[in-house]
Amino acid sequence: MSARMRTRHFAQAKAEGRKISCLTSYDALTAAIFDEAGIDLLLVGDSAANVVLGQASTLSITTDEMLSMSRAVAGAVERAFVVADLPFGTYEEGPAQALATAVRFMKETGVHGVKLEGGVEVADTIRTLVDAGIPVVGHIGFTPQSEHTLGGYVVQGRGGAAEKLRADARAVAEAGAFAVVLEMVPADVAAQVTAELDIVTIGIGAGNATDGQVLVWTDAFGLGRGKTPSFVRRYADLGSVLLDAARAYKADVEDASFPAESESF
Ligand code: KIV
Repeated sequence: MSARMRTRHFAQAKAEGRKISCLTSYDALTAAIFDEAGIDLLLVGDSAANVVLGQASTLSITTDEMLSMSRAVAGAVERAFVVADLPFGTYEEGPAQALATAVRFMKETGVHGVKLEGGVEVADTIRTLVDAGIPVVGHIGFTPQSEHTLGGYVVQGRGGAAEKLRADARAVAEAGAFAVVLEMVPADVAAQVTAELDIVTIGIGAGNATDGQVLVWTDAFGLGRGKTPSFVRRYADLGSVLLDAARAYKADVEDASFPAESESF
């Protein structure tokens, strides 16, 4: 296993044109597997609200729920850089509230950094966390915690809105974030932002010119039951594998072929 990923390694990757791989993870089991696969950054996303807790949006997840998942992920990796999402309502009051929340994540879970949503309007908050020694990932474009303001899952930064997106990206970078997620942004705009910024861009639904890519792991590996966004590539169909396994187990229990003698004392 190579050395633990640090923020400087992300900057080096960008400078050398090496792409950065990121996935969400919400538990120790997947974190250990993704870490072994060499995924550079694991995001304990508040998408856990949808994926793990079955909620309709990310808004309802609590700090306590995110803390326990973050602890599980951070404790399971040897190399990957682990970032936790600050939940909705735990940083919007301003830098002092954000710092108190971020400190909890850093102290109580062992994650290596935090992510928060927003551009120009959270620049002061990002600066405060960075000044406190906390690595920050920004998140602009489509920001799920604002889905009701944005009118649902809609591509951001099209046409005249591109300028606002670029200003948000600059603000996040100037505030000291080491990376920024660009979600559901036209590929040409994401390419422009990536070229303009010194910090790493991580795309999700933002084309292939960003410095890295992130996907919600259950979307990418086929464990989700709902509709998968069009920007996702499916690498596996784990839902079917699990369904077949559960059906086979049920059949073996019901016809008493499990456990066999070799599986008994
Ligand atoms: O919560 C999450 O999973 C995210 C990714 C979609 C970037 O923020």
